[in-house]
Amino acid sequence: MGDLARLLKESWSLVEEHQDKVAGYFYARMFLSHPDLRDLFPVQMDVQRARLLGAIVTAVQTLEDPEKFDDYLRALGRDHRKFHVEPEHYEVVGGALIEAMRTCAGEQWGVEYDQAWADAYAVIASKMLAGADADPNPPYWHAEVVAHERRARDIAVFTVLPLQPLEFRAGQYLSLEAPRYQPRLWRTYSPANAPRRDNTLEFHVKAIGAGWVSSALVRRLNTGDMIKLAAPMGSMTLDRRSTRDAVFVAGGTGLAPIKSLLEELTRYNRTRWVHVFFGARTRDDLYDLADLNRLAARYPWLSVVTACSDDPTFPGEKGNISDVVARYGPWQEHDFFVSGSGRMVKATLKTLAELQVPSVRVKYDSFTD
Ligand SMILES: Cc1cc2nc3c(=O)[nH]c(=O)nc-3n(C[C@H](O)[C@H](O)[C@H](O)COP(=O)(O)OP(=O)(O)OC[C@H]3O[C@@H](n4cnc5c(N)ncnc54)[C@H](O)[C@@H]3O)c2cc1C
Ligand code: HEM
Repeated sequence: MGDLARLLKESWSLVEEHQDKVAGYFYARMFLSHPDLRDLFPVQMDVQRARLLGAIVTAVQTLEDPEKFDDYLRALGRDHRKFHVEPEHYEVVGGALIEAMRTCAGEQWGVEYDQAWADAYAVIASKMLAGADADPNPPYWHAEVVAHERRARDIAVFTVLPLQPLEFRAGQYLSLEAPRYQPRLWRTYSPANAPRRDNTLEFHVKAIGAGWVSSALVRRLNTGDMIKLAAPMGSMTLDRRSTRDAVFVAGGTGLAPIKSLLEELTRYNRTRWVHVFFGARTRDDLYDLADLNRLAARYPWLSVVTACSDDPTFPGEKGNISDVVARYGPWQEHDFFVSGSGRMVKATLKTLAELQVPSVRVKYDSFTD
């Protein structure tokens, strides 16, 4: 372990058990010295109080070699423009962080720790700033909701029209803010369509029990509302050179990026067999089945298998979608795309590993950690 890494770990261990206290100091220090910064953060800070602090500490601690994480840090810096972060804010945040740790650690804190955190933070901040500076795109796009439909009790499908062109690749996701209902809370959602000439994007959102943004998008968002979208991210995209047959495994609204990829395939595919496995708890949650069946009827290379894990009278497959995939196959020669909740993705990856599908052929997006 390098000297810098040792100093960072050593000093963090002094305050690690009091993260709440560090977060309290950090935000208080930042907002007292720069009250204008409060407006950059969500109204309800208690929900994710330590989010920024945790993110910076993780970045500083794990990115021992920031060169390796150049792309990630540049993208993070680009993305921070959506929070209205300006270059001069970096110094304020870095200073507040070090002061908070020093205060919480008390006498055990050494001056060499100050320097270690300042050095590591400076490298990361400079990479983020370079990324922000080099981005030709706007920090975010305004978009108007042009259609909104409830498909199940807690699922909505809605379409937005960005006011400026927004380029993305099928299978990517974007972050979204609904300022009218949940200002300054950004969450990621995957468009369910491939890029279109009219520039519109369709989203499929499931309201999570206590979820702040998803509930608003499902229950309150309406035609005519304006939302904000920020730069597309993610690498669950198609390789047009691949000649392998493909398997798409979707759980619930994890179907969104899968439909985007399917739509892209409908534009050029003639030779690859494509199997879609779509699973949900109950048949009501298979909210987009009619459209999937329509696609399957139209494209002979496409087949769709549906499954419910919690609906004993469902006429299709029963059980978790990961188990259902294993009942079909063999799959060793296929490209895989998996999308859904963290639990569903984890279970599917485990099944694929057991079926000896090489991990390089599996792309996935997990909606939760
Ligand atoms: C790459 C990516 C793409 C995504 N695409 C989509 C999409 O197309 N459609 C879609 O509906 N969602 C998608 N999500 C999930 C979405 O970003 C939000 O996490 C989700 O809508 C919950 O946000 P919230 O503000 O309502 O909940 P929060 O207020 O953030 O969370 C409330 C509570 O619910 C828990 N929670 C959050 N998400 C889930 C979950 N999925 N299942 C169970 N508990 C959860 C949290 O841990 C927290 O305790 C995607 C996520 C990622 C990372
Ligand atoms: C080393 C520097 C920094 C790192 C590594 C960092 C990292 C992160 C990460 C990973 C997130 C979560 C991203 C997401 O949810 O989309 C985040 C959120 C955020 N960051 Fe930073 N950040 C840094 C500097 C700053 C600065 C200087 C500001 C200016 C005040 C800032 C303001 C924010 C805000 C407002 C959020 C959203 C917080 C929330 O939703 O609660 N960040 N940061």
